Amino acid sequence: METLQPKKGTYALEDYTKARESFDWKDVEKVFTWSKTGNVNAAYEAIDRHVKEGRGQKTALHYSDASRDETYTYSELCDLTNKASHMFRDLGVDKGDRVFIFMPRSPELYVALLGAIKVGAVVGPLFEAFMQDAVKARLEDSEATMIITTPDLASRIPHQELPSLKTIMLVGGSEEIGGINTVFYETELEKHPSDDTAIEWVDKEDGLILHYTSGSTGKPKGVYHVHYAMLQHYQTAKWVLDLQDNDVYWCTADPGWVTGTSYGIFGPWLNGATNVVRGGRFSPDDWYHTIEKYQVTVWYSAPTAFRMLMAAPKDILSKYDLSSLRHILSVGEPLNPEVVRWGWEVFHHRIHDTWWMTETGGMLICNYLSEPVKPGSMGKPFPGVHAAIIDDFGNELPPNEMGNLAVQTGWPSQMRKIWKNDAKFEEYFAIPGWYISGDTAYRDEDGYFWFQGRNDDVIMTAGERVGPFEIESKLVEHPAVAEAGVIGKPDEIRGHIIKAFISLRDGYDYSEELKKEIQTFIKTELAAHAVPREIEFKEKLPKTRSGKIMRRVLKAWELDEPTGDLSTMDD
Ligand code: PRX
Repeated sequence: METLQPKKGTYALEDYTKARESFDWKDVEKVFTWSKTGNVNAAYEAIDRHVKEGRGQKTALHYSDASRDETYTYSELCDLTNKASHMFRDLGVDKGDRVFIFMPRSPELYVALLGAIKVGAVVGPLFEAFMQDAVKARLEDSEATMIITTPDLASRIPHQELPSLKTIMLVGGSEEIGGINTVFYETELEKHPSDDTAIEWVDKEDGLILHYTSGSTGKPKGVYHVHYAMLQHYQTAKWVLDLQDNDVYWCTADPGWVTGTSYGIFGPWLNGATNVVRGGRFSPDDWYHTIEKYQVTVWYSAPTAFRMLMAAPKDILSKYDLSSLRHILSVGEPLNPEVVRWGWEVFHHRIHDTWWMTETGGMLICNYLSEPVKPGSMGKPFPGVHAAIIDDFGNELPPNEMGNLAVQTGWPSQMRKIWKNDAKFEEYFAIPGWYISGDTAYRDEDGYFWFQGRNDDVIMTAGERVGPFEIESKLVEHPAVAEAGVIGKPDEIRGHIIKAFISLRDGYDYSEELKKEIQTFIKTELAAHAVPREIEFKEKLPKTRSGKIMRRVLKAWELDEPTGDLSTMDD
């Protein structure tokens, strides 16, 4: 495979080899403002610090969607988030309380999220497509006390069934919700001053954010990150996103997912960058228009989006001026070499892959502007990060041997716990000294890592991570469904699509109509992105003697591959 050599330009860091030798996370601490007590606050660092250092008039946020088009300076965001911090304090939010945010992207989302962090709350962002059951599971597990949402989405919050939930805050609403304390964001915010006295100075190990994510078994788990993660957000955004003072940066991810917070909020703002947020749905025209409109220079997106752009009619490119772009990056799924080649052809830039996970909180293995890119490879570990391929006993494997992708523990944005689930947390660290990612990969002689697959049943579909268990559990709640097994089926555009195998209860027969009904059921009860695009009806599903559905066998059937060892299968 060819190697794409770096272009000359202005790079934040020219020499990664040197940086890898001398790097010390302690040096990054010096960037931040440690209050008189030795404490810190990530939201203050992201916004107020720039104002204090004379960059208050710089544009922090360009926000637009179909009906709004607004720009905020760092000073303006500083005032707004300070008002929000006073508001949350007056509403009784205490350090460590879980405050959830469930709404489409808007400036209010960002202000509320940072304002809540300012008073020391642990924020929990929820993707707007979640339906009632998904919302309930997450609020119940986290024991959230407040949720900020819109009147449209509020109906999906079953507050009567959530004893810990004390307040619903509505953005853009004026009607009380019965049976719970309802407050109105705009009216409430208005009442409060914009000084910084409501800021809570927290310990670096105090909670910052709780992102729920899927595994292959069990309910979604709350991945808990602390303020110290900002060291990773800051330094990776500087050296991998290569953010410079005059950059206009666009991360296309929603803050409901970790990319949308680590690199849609913290990374860019800790570096004082100009951040673009575009609301609404994906369309090639809209996205290219966004790049042109804001003269985006640094663009962080996902393979699925690139593949959809690739599939758009060729002449679309000639309609837009995309010459402002200077650096393009990707995350979330394997970045196919043909996508990298396409990027080179149409944008005249390399697309830089980055590898990390909700649990890692920030980038760990990346491609860098000033280093060669091998298309198809995730790149090399970030300075200060030791990644390796290990066997099941913790021995490091030599180059080109496949094994567990693992990282030596101790990077700043490493998750600190799985909320109320120590056993799950410990599974990641079962081999002393290592974090085990659940991905299989190999490393080549030059130190580049190559992704091979997940070694559990987690499905990455259109850049989103879904657990088969949550979908299966929902499927069997449908009156027609006796049993269900869910797998990811390879798909050219989406990476994988969700495919469900279903056996029906007595009295039900397969029909196209039933299939549609089941799909709608998942869409309205769980989330649109969790809908199985394909459903296959089966007389019986393959199960172990203990009754577990064998997804591995379903997958082998689907892909026409050998089913492997069937000794545990029930006859
Ligand atoms: O399997 C890997 C895949 O996404 C998983 C993590 O998903 P999530 O926590 O939702 O985070 C996604 C964005 C940070 C990983 O275990 N993944 C992530 N990046 C890559 C990737 N697979 C291949 N190449 C990547 N660059």
